[in-house]
Amino acid sequence: MSYRKWLPNFVFLICLINLVVTVKSEFPTNINFNYNCTANGTYTSNSTYKTNLDTLLSTVSPNIDNNGFYNASTGENSDRVNVIALCRADLQPYQCRDYVKNATVEILKKCPNQKQAIFWHEFCMVRYSNESIFGTLAYSPSDQGYSNEKVLTNLDEFYQDLNILLDSLRNQTAYNSSPMKFAADRRVNRKKEQNYAFEQCTPDITPKECDDCLKDSALRIQIGPYGGRILRPSCYLRFETDFPFYNETMVDILQPPAKSPPPLSPPTASPPPPLSPPGGGGGGGDAET
Ligand SMILES: *[C@@H]1O[C@H](CO)[C@@H](O)[C@H](O)[C@H]1NC(C)=O
Ligand SMILES: *[C@@H]1O[C@H](CO)[C@@H](O)[C@H](O)[C@H]1NC(C)=O
Ligand SMILES: *[C@@H]1O[C@H](CO)[C@@H](O)[C@H](O)[C@H]1NC(C)=O
Ligand SMILES: *[C@@H]1O[C@H](CO)[C@@H](O)[C@H](O)[C@H]1NC(C)=O
Ligand SMILES: *[C@@H]1O[C@H](CO)[C@@H](O)[C@H](O)[C@H]1NC(C)=O
Ligand SMILES: *[C@@H]1O[C@H](CO)[C@@H](O)[C@H](O)[C@H]1NC(C)=O
Ligand SMILES: *[C@@H]1O[C@H](CO)[C@@H](O)[C@H](O)[C@H]1NC(C)=O
Ligand SMILES: *[C@@H]1O[C@H](CO)[C@@H](O)[C@H](O)[C@H]1NC(C)=O
Repeated sequence: MSYRKWLPNFVFLICLINLVVTVKSEFPTNINFNYNCTANGTYTSNSTYKTNLDTLLSTVSPNIDNNGFYNASTGENSDRVNVIALCRADLQPYQCRDYVKNATVEILKKCPNQKQAIFWHEFCMVRYSNESIFGTLAYSPSDQGYSNEKVLTNLDEFYQDLNILLDSLRNQTAYNSSPMKFAADRRVNRKKEQNYAFEQCTPDITPKECDDCLKDSALRIQIGPYGGRILRPSCYLRFETDFPFYNETMVDILQPPAKSPPPLSPPTASPPPPLSPPGGGGGGGDAET
């Protein structure tokens, strides 16, 4: 091939590469914390429970697996402590270990002497209890947070479009055959904005339970904000608009090729279906069972 012929192709390629890199990932984003020191008993600072808890939490970061999950228990009877940790699926293993290490230290600072607690780091979740927690679907405690920078105009359209993406991701999260129960994607909405969403369940619950958990989380989304997260012990949901908050490269590598949510259909004459707004009558904000 002659140089002359090669050069234009080369220039074209450079332009293409530039196009690709201008869609800039915002990952890793700012780190937000949420936690709930479930008011259900305390331990004393010289108790066996405390020794067991400290020991157990120190084993999380070194032992969390490459799927970003860890569960373990130690101690007997009233001194038994159970822990579960889950990293967001788009992290590199070293990021998972670092963030979960941070969370295991912070949970003790934020919830001193609490027998049960949950800590949601931006990129992982750590939870411990004197009760058995492995394999049990838990909606509660729950928490949520929103991104309020922009004011939405056409709410009905926005949430209809967003829910198409969330429904599709929920199915992929719950029923995919991978040990990592997650799905993430983006979808252009009718206002030509990009909706990004990420859903994940702990791998110890059934697909049906995962589906139920995420379905309920989607119903809790408050109307108004452009982005937000619904945090639960068993499932995670986050969405943002025009803000690529997760590692899309990693998601592309890990995610089994799945059906993308339906693209925007060309405008039709038929009226849109009646809107059932997310938020579903729930007052929002508070945990429930
Ligand atoms: C506290 O623990 C008791 C005893 O196991 C349990 O029945 C109850 O549901 C717990 N309460 C909360 C708020 O978690
Ligand atoms: C956990 O701790 C709470 C509060 O002290 C207590 O009521 C409950 O019985 C404990 N559960 C177990 C399984 O020991
Ligand atoms: C250690 O615990 C025992 C009973 O559990 C209590 O009597 C004692 O005062 C505690 N000591 C300290 C230093 O907290
Ligand atoms: C959870 O912990 C139990 C008890 O240590 C262990 O048998 C089981 O393999 C663990 N499951 C996962 C998915 O890590
Ligand atoms: C955990 O991470 C946060 C945010 O990056 C940081 O402010 C905090 O100091 C860290 N805590 C520990 C114990 O490393
Ligand atoms: C913690 O969770 C409990 C039980 O779900 C809830 O009643 C309580 O309001 C939560 N606390 C905070 C500070 O959110
Ligand atoms: C949900 O996922 C399953 C398995 O991946 C697939 O067979 C099914 O068609 C999906 N359902 C919807 C409504 O997308
Ligand atoms: C995103 O994932 C890719 C693929 O695993 C990795 O090479 C890259 O370092 C990740 N980006 C960040 C900021 O961690």
